[in-house]
Amino acid sequence: MAQAKAKLSPKPEVYKNYIAGRWVRPAGGEMMDNLNPADTRELVGRFPASTGEDVDAAVNAAREALPQWKKTPAPRRAEILYRLGQILIERKEQYAVEMTREMGKVLKEARGDVQEAIDMTFYTAGEGRRLHGYTTPSELPDKFAMCVRQPIGVCALVTPWNFPMAIPSWKMMPALVCGNTVVIKPAEDTPLSTLNLVQACIDAGVPAGVVNVVMGTGEAAGAALSSHKNVNLISFTGSTDTGRLVAETAARTGKNCSLEMGGKNVILIMEDADLDLAVEGAVWGAFGTSGQRCTASSRLVVHKRVYKKFVDKLTERTRALRIGNGLDKKVEVGPVINEDAVNKIMGYIEIGRQVDGATLHLGGHRLERGEYKHGWYIEPTIFTDVAPRMRIAQEEIFGPVVSVIPCRDLDDAVQIGNGVQYGLSSAIYTADVNRAFRAMEQMHTGIFYVNSSTIGAEVHLPFGGTKATGNGHREGAMASSLDIFSEWKAVYVDYSGKLQKAQIDTAT
Ligand code: UN1
Repeated sequence: MAQAKAKLSPKPEVYKNYIAGRWVRPAGGEMMDNLNPADTRELVGRFPASTGEDVDAAVNAAREALPQWKKTPAPRRAEILYRLGQILIERKEQYAVEMTREMGKVLKEARGDVQEAIDMTFYTAGEGRRLHGYTTPSELPDKFAMCVRQPIGVCALVTPWNFPMAIPSWKMMPALVCGNTVVIKPAEDTPLSTLNLVQACIDAGVPAGVVNVVMGTGEAAGAALSSHKNVNLISFTGSTDTGRLVAETAARTGKNCSLEMGGKNVILIMEDADLDLAVEGAVWGAFGTSGQRCTASSRLVVHKRVYKKFVDKLTERTRALRIGNGLDKKVEVGPVINEDAVNKIMGYIEIGRQVDGATLHLGGHRLERGEYKHGWYIEPTIFTDVAPRMRIAQEEIFGPVVSVIPCRDLDDAVQIGNGVQYGLSSAIYTADVNRAFRAMEQMHTGIFYVNSSTIGAEVHLPFGGTKATGNGHREGAMASSLDIFSEWKAVYVDYSGKLQKAQIDTAT
């Protein structure tokens, strides 16, 4: 969160934490300013900078609410989620506008973010009448065997700023339907969107203590939450560095832990691809959300036979992008999230030019004049002649910067595509179904697209990645979400009336 003092808003809204069914001030009284990245003179609001004391109160509230929520039948829990989904539909526009103001993404995308939360809420509510376990034969006579899902306990949800309503919903909905209680720590840049989701929960009838929110920095609130002895599970989405710290803390304090971290996603563009379609996908994937998606298409690996033609079309289309305040209907690319992000992205542009020696083909500047004067704007930037081992082709930039890398053939493209530490999303543009399937099989990523960009995952399919992107879990899709937020209980019922010994009485 930026330190700059806002000038425009005369009476800033002051927000509170939500703990045990009440809005409460942070114990230490410290607050953080939430500024509009499109115009930092606008103060979106002042939010708690919570400390360990607040985290403690929230975790205790979640623990106290647990027995009752656990006992509530899952179909009843799901009814609350159906009401919640309906409320989100009614408030979609308001929540989207507020999201654009605090996060910067263009309004159309902010609506998509709220929609993703709506999708996840309804989708998960349906699970209230399933939560399937299974029955299976016992190896002994007169004995019944089955397994059921049970809640894990208090779940800490640490969420990022780039999808400030969708990602909390990916975690919160399955956690709730499974009978857990939660404490959310939203990113400090976008607490309002998460608070909106929580307000909708309150209005839908989620009981006190079942959902709690503690706002603040990762260093103070996040660290206190992930190390808290009464938290049973931590679900984190964010950077790989922070994720690793979370994993270490979880291991030390004996918690379940699911992580969604960085990406360095790739689109493979073959010589038989529909180039116009590929360009549309590349522009949307690279510069949508100003490149601030874990799924952003930050590498374009292009067959050398169509390389020049593709770069020309990409350049023309990128040059035409309208940059500005996301509330303006004509704008296609908004600002980046904060001053630190500007510095990091501009740092990578310098690395690309000076250290890597790639060709800065388009863009590369911070925009600071006229309408951009008070915002955090960076031009959509294209590097060409990028070699696969260059830093800009290896490290996650999380901004509107794309590297175009030439390749010889599909094998070469796949090798380049897989040659990074991350494994979230990949895509191929080709007219050849055999090549599409070969790439599908060989790309070591959690998500794969054919003739479509690397972004745009739907909630009912597993979301997550291989290698440094994750730790083996997937969000979204029911089975994989439930595997994060519930654990199995194997149940044996012996109705033989005598002691039967597995493995021993059955020995051949
Ligand atoms: C993210 O990038 O952090 O697939 C999440 C997509 C969105 C979710 C992205 N549905 O691009």
